[in-house]
Amino acid sequence: MPSAKDDTITSTAAKKSIAEDLAKKQREISVTEFFEKNKHILGFDSRAKSLLMGIKEAVDNSLDACEEANILPDIYVRIDDLGEDEYRIIEEDNGPGIVHKMIPNVFGRLLFGSRFHALRQSRGQQGIGISATIMYGNITTGKAAHVKSMIEGDVARQMDIVIDTKTNRPVVSNDTAFIWEGKEHGTYIEYYIAGKYMNGKQSVYEYLKNTAIVNPHARITFVDPKGNTFVF
Ligand SMILES: Nc1ncnc2c1ncn2[C@@H]1O[C@H](COP(=O)(O)OP(=O)(O)O)[C@@H](O)[C@H]1O
Ligand SMILES: [Mg+2]
Repeated sequence: MPSAKDDTITSTAAKKSIAEDLAKKQREISVTEFFEKNKHILGFDSRAKSLLMGIKEAVDNSLDACEEANILPDIYVRIDDLGEDEYRIIEEDNGPGIVHKMIPNVFGRLLFGSRFHALRQSRGQQGIGISATIMYGNITTGKAAHVKSMIEGDVARQMDIVIDTKTNRPVVSNDTAFIWEGKEHGTYIEYYIAGKYMNGKQSVYEYLKNTAIVNPHARITFVDPKGNTFVF
């Protein structure tokens, strides 16, 4: 007959094997998967907020980049309503542009940025970055983002980007050089996103209008989903 002591020995062994089983499942949590499951942390907890958050990330980056390059910002934002809560967002600036090999990381990799490490507080540091927007757009619509960027005196580049949420790495396609008519330098991003266009206090319209007020040196052109153009 097994004694109480034997029971303890058996259960100790069982516990050890359970711990070993658990160990096999323990691994680093992908930052992308984490944020995919916790979208509210990024501010993507409602459709109205998602639309605004994404545009805010893009416009803040444009303002930051122009400021760093001593360029008077000329920013263009356009929202197209594609129906069924899907929108296409275009945001373009006349900033310094982004080095070709960094474009995939900037837009296709979470927690990849420069301002987090900076001592000076800038706009960009408040959010998690533009790649969160690109990822949210990817996962809610299944569509890739399209980016164009050009540095003065350099050839313009464009590419489609999606984020691999398992590895937190960009997946790039159609990476090509092209001639960007009428452009000297700057960045253009186009992405699709599930959202809701709202009027009122928390709207994209109000945000852009107020951003232009606090940045009087910036010109912001906005085309709303109805096709109305506003220049702030
Ligand atoms: N429109 C832009 N023009 C030039 N550089 C940009 C632009 N958008 C992003 N970047 C570069 O990509 C980096 C990462 O952007 P982001 O992910 O928003 O993080 P953060 O703004 O906190 O650095 C920026 O720090 C900047 O160097
Ligand atoms: Mg930023």
